[in-house]
Amino acid sequence: MKILGIDVGGSGIKGAIVDTDLGELVTEKFRLKTPRPAKPEAVAKVVHQIVDHFNWKGKVGVGFPTPLAHGKCMSGGNLHKKWKGVQVDQLFSETTGLEFTVINDADAAGEAEMHYGAGQGKMGLVAVITLGTGIGSGLFYDGILIPNTELGHTVFKGEAFEKFAADSIRKKEDLTYKQWGKRLNKYFKRIELILSPDLFIIGGGASSKMDKFVDQIEIRAPIIPAENKNEAGIIGAAVGAFDKVH
Ligand code: BGC
Repeated sequence: MKILGIDVGGSGIKGAIVDTDLGELVTEKFRLKTPRPAKPEAVAKVVHQIVDHFNWKGKVGVGFPTPLAHGKCMSGGNLHKKWKGVQVDQLFSETTGLEFTVINDADAAGEAEMHYGAGQGKMGLVAVITLGTGIGSGLFYDGILIPNTELGHTVFKGEAFEKFAADSIRKKEDLTYKQWGKRLNKYFKRIELILSPDLFIIGGGASSKMDKFVDQIEIRAPIIPAENKNEAGIIGAAVGAFDKVH
């Protein structure tokens, strides 16, 4: 099946048509800047522009970067506080007239990895952790998504762990990879203590730089980089959107 996959991020909103049988993009990616402030109507407008760019009339799957439950935004997070309580799929459907399914961005990236990337055939408990503006998580048991986990919000020193260990914090505080790796070590140790995953997969921008910090991480479970890299968000949005488990 062909589905338009859209990945809503803190800095950009990207879309492409995805062949969900192959898990591949069948068009070039199209990217527009995330509007600032990233209020619901402004973001919906950009989503509409992406739909129009592809002259798309079919189904759309979206990966969305906030806590969600059944397509409803639980907190505006790194986007904008006005999102809280918005039924995101409904807003995008009303704006474009198309059928939308909206899932969490890290769940989407995880779906892409489990179906077509580093997680293929991996059984047991797999935690896909995305390191970017925030820390996202997609949790899978025997390849099936346990949706809407927010493992970046585990608390450290009274704040969400992502405020201490996200890739954006590395940049903001100008940390060396060694310093950042030590912070990530604390994070992964905590998650391992709580969940004992069999495998960690690192997604987000940091997956391609893993060799710079992985030697700081001392956990029992293997930790490997994602394979789909930049495309995972779009592919996973399209593939995961119609699993109907969210
Ligand atoms: C949000 C998650 C999201 C992650 C990565 C966090 O701040 O709470 O829902 O998956 O950032 O974008």
